[in-house]
Amino acid sequence: MRIDVFTLFPEWFAWVREQRHVRNAEELGHELRAVDLRATTPLPAGKVDDTPYGGGAGMVIRVDVVEAALRARYGTDPVELPAERRVIALSAAGRRFDDALAAELAGEAELTLLCGRYEGFDERVHEHLASDVVSIGPYVLSGGELAAMVVCDAVLRKLPGALGHAESALEESFSPALEGGPEYPHFTRPARWRGHEVPEVLVSGDHARIRGWRRERSRERRAD
Ligand code: ADE
Repeated sequence: MRIDVFTLFPEWFAWVREQRHVRNAEELGHELRAVDLRATTPLPAGKVDDTPYGGGAGMVIRVDVVEAALRARYGTDPVELPAERRVIALSAAGRRFDDALAAELAGEAELTLLCGRYEGFDERVHEHLASDVVSIGPYVLSGGELAAMVVCDAVLRKLPGALGHAESALEESFSPALEGGPEYPHFTRPARWRGHEVPEVLVSGDHARIRGWRRERSRERRAD
């Protein structure tokens, strides 16, 4: 998989690329690239934004700036791109990101993430240059970068081999193995801490009972 993140802060993604599972994914041939939106702006002095029509606070990232960045990267007319690949604009007003969408995106060969700043993108970016508008939650961030990092993290860890233990991605919260429910609780040593004991079943060595107990706890958490 190749993920391109278009951002005004490409250097922020150096930290993401240092993380173990991202390095593992890159060693397996996957790529995460941060593309500087300012580097290809057609406007003078690196300008990328403008005041909103109709008035109001803040600045809006211009559609022609995003168009130029996409054209420089992919060499095609950017309005054709959403039909060919997932181009995801991050916005608080988008479709809510969840584990099912992460799994869907992990099946793509290429992903493009567009990070807005200030008041976000000109709406024509969402309408004509993006295939999806995605929000990571019902709150407003200062920009799409942290949201893009969340999407990259959740998607990359689903790629086979990106996690040290393949099973840990299979039976984790919201996975089909847990019927889409939250994960069961985990315990490790010490078995007794300040009078609190680890559930007896987990030290019983009875794997069928342990599986049943874990499924039950996951179902209970979903009911909460
Ligand atoms: N940009 C600003 N807030 C956001 C959010 N909650 N999700 C995605 N992108 C955003």
